[in-house]
Amino acid sequence: MAITVTVIGLGYLGATHAVAMAELGHNVIGIEADEKKLAALKGGKIPFYEPGLEEALKRVIAAGRISFQSSHSDKSAKADVHFLCVGTPQVKGSYAADVSYLYAAVDALAPYLSKSAVVAGKSTVPVGTAKELKERLSEQTGFAAKLVWNPEFLREGTALEDSLRPDRIVIGVEEGDSESEKIMRAVYQPIINGDTGSPAGQTPFLVMDVATSELVKVAANSFLATKISFINAMAEIAEASGADTVRLAEAIGMDARIGSQFLRNGIGFGGGCLPKDIRAFVARAEQLGAGEAVEFLKDVDAVNLRRRERVVSLAKRELGELKGKRILMLGAAFKPDSDDLRDSPALAIALKLQELGADVVITDPMGLEGVAANHPQLKAVEDVMEAAAGAELVILGTEWKVYRELDAKKLAAVVSNKTVIDGRNALPYRAWQEAGWKVIALGRNLEQAN
Ligand code: UGA
Repeated sequence: MAITVTVIGLGYLGATHAVAMAELGHNVIGIEADEKKLAALKGGKIPFYEPGLEEALKRVIAAGRISFQSSHSDKSAKADVHFLCVGTPQVKGSYAADVSYLYAAVDALAPYLSKSAVVAGKSTVPVGTAKELKERLSEQTGFAAKLVWNPEFLREGTALEDSLRPDRIVIGVEEGDSESEKIMRAVYQPIINGDTGSPAGQTPFLVMDVATSELVKVAANSFLATKISFINAMAEIAEASGADTVRLAEAIGMDARIGSQFLRNGIGFGGGCLPKDIRAFVARAEQLGAGEAVEFLKDVDAVNLRRRERVVSLAKRELGELKGKRILMLGAAFKPDSDDLRDSPALAIALKLQELGADVVITDPMGLEGVAANHPQLKAVEDVMEAAAGAELVILGTEWKVYRELDAKKLAAVVSNKTVIDGRNALPYRAWQEAGWKVIALGRNLEQAN
């Protein structure tokens, strides 16, 4: 059954969700106030890099299942579901999440909201936000708005895949609101049926109360962040004791209760989600008088940020005085297959080294436009060999495939000193060593590794 939906806010989450909804066969109206983004999307262009998404957008535009507009209209007012996908960034100077874009989104929606339509929040929010939004909406509409929460678990780089074939679908509904639950089931029925390639009938559809559904997302990201910081804490111990974190992670990860994913140590997590989500969680917990419960997330954050400092101190150890030393940073994005520079560990390290006087050259297959626009003090060079010319230190900051597969011999011929810090434990270090490189890998003891 094709359903008409609006998707409000077409950033990373919204644009992907809009395309995914259209791929499921629904009629989608994307609403985005930013004229530049809007024009791009109308023209079949995704304003950021996400593998496969642009092709899918072109497909659904051609099929006539998606259209875009800058604000609500009588047409969008007829939608059955309105998805809220605006951002909830960290407030400057505070740990808290800024939910003002959500307030603005519901205020703009209120005059167009019909009694039967469901408002489905997807943004990551502090627990309790949905309730506030419902009250705010209902005050303006004069009727009890139907509000559900439907957190999103997509990862950048595999966003469409994660949306069309999710591990689970979570819906938070108010007690007794069976109508909203029914509509949300209908929205996701193609996935549950197996039409998108998920095993038919096997994608869990979890219905719960609204507060729990808000918390599911924050808890999931906090757990993932904790897992990464755990292994990075082990890396600190390994560095102090001569042990090898990669072998350690391999061994503990084989215990199914622990699991091997998200145990890759290195320069830590970044991006627009994990760092700000753990901080917003701490802020909300404190507001709730339950700050102690997630106090440990401050340590998770601190361990994560220490990894960046570790690379800076390794650079100092290797080069002595940093002033004027040419350093090549391989990668700017917070992870491969993304051009997202938000809270990127690679970029943060590059900026710190530059601040300390080093002459930093940075390269990235997709992220350089953003670097050039926002960080002109760094030399952004597209071609890796050109970027490497004369480098006294090479740092792998983002493990793009092209960097993992670099020809260490060719690179050795253009640098002026063959030292590499593998910030992601992603380089085939033996091949690099054979090509004459001194390889420093975070949390590893390469003499003993095999
Ligand atoms: C994260 C979650 O994984 C998604 O489930 C969630 O939907 C999303 O946030 C969100 O809230 O929207 P994402 O930020 O795209 O997704 O990226 P991740 O794959 O989680 O990676 C985050 C960071 O952790 C990256 O900087 C990555 O390099 C780092 N990482 C990841 C490690 O350092 N080690 C690992 O083992 C795994």
